[in-house]
Amino acid sequence: MRFDVFTLLPDVFPPYLESSILQRARQRGLIEVQVHNIRDWTHDRHHVTDDEPYAGGGGMVMKVEPVFEAVESVLGYDDCCPVILLTPQGRVFTQKVAAELSAHPRLALICGRYEGVDERIRQHLATDEISIGDYVLTGGELPAMILIDAVARLIPGVLGDPGGAADDSHAAGLLEYPHYTRPPEFRGWRVPEILLSGDHAKIAKWRREQSLLRTLERRPDLLETAELSEKERKFVESLKSKVNPDL
Ligand code: ADE
Repeated sequence: MRFDVFTLLPDVFPPYLESSILQRARQRGLIEVQVHNIRDWTHDRHHVTDDEPYAGGGGMVMKVEPVFEAVESVLGYDDCCPVILLTPQGRVFTQKVAAELSAHPRLALICGRYEGVDERIRQHLATDEISIGDYVLTGGELPAMILIDAVARLIPGVLGDPGGAADDSHAAGLLEYPHYTRPPEFRGWRVPEILLSGDHAKIAKWRREQSLLRTLERRPDLLETAELSEKERKFVESLKSKVNPDL
């Protein structure tokens, strides 16, 4: 899968992309990330990429021409792939959106800067707008990196363990069960006996129940849309009065 990132801060990407899992995925040809400096598509002496907003209003606005030129010269003029603008005004990024995007062979990501981008970029260049949450950052670079990370790890082969992404928190609309590794006892705190029992059916049941309990305790909103069997719904109902009498 290929990502084309359009940014005014190209230097912030390599340090993260060159570490750990993403580096291995790039070396194995599972992902390719091309970072393009929007400033390279300016034509004036000072390589200006921002300007004052028409009619005032404070702050600077990212200019329309260099962004269009950059994207069109890299992608061509036909719709080769989704062109995503990272902006706090976009649809909120979730695990479901990550899964949806991971089905594309190529994604283009435009990182906004300054107070905003010229509206014509949204209207006539971007095909999608994504926010990583209801808070405002200084630019779209960290959001782009987060999107790349979340999407890349869903591509088969990127994670060492093929089941790795399937069990994730949020993958099935629930939070994940707790994990333990050796030693079996640390400062008197023991690993739940069932995990040492070797009984795979019981362990699977325990994990599912822990996942339901954890979701109920921490993110009860997720249970409204999670896919649960009738039995699991009943189990959750039986937990409610214990977890929080108000639920
Ligand atoms: N740019 C600034 N804040 C952002 C956010 N929350 N999500 C995506 N892009 C952004």
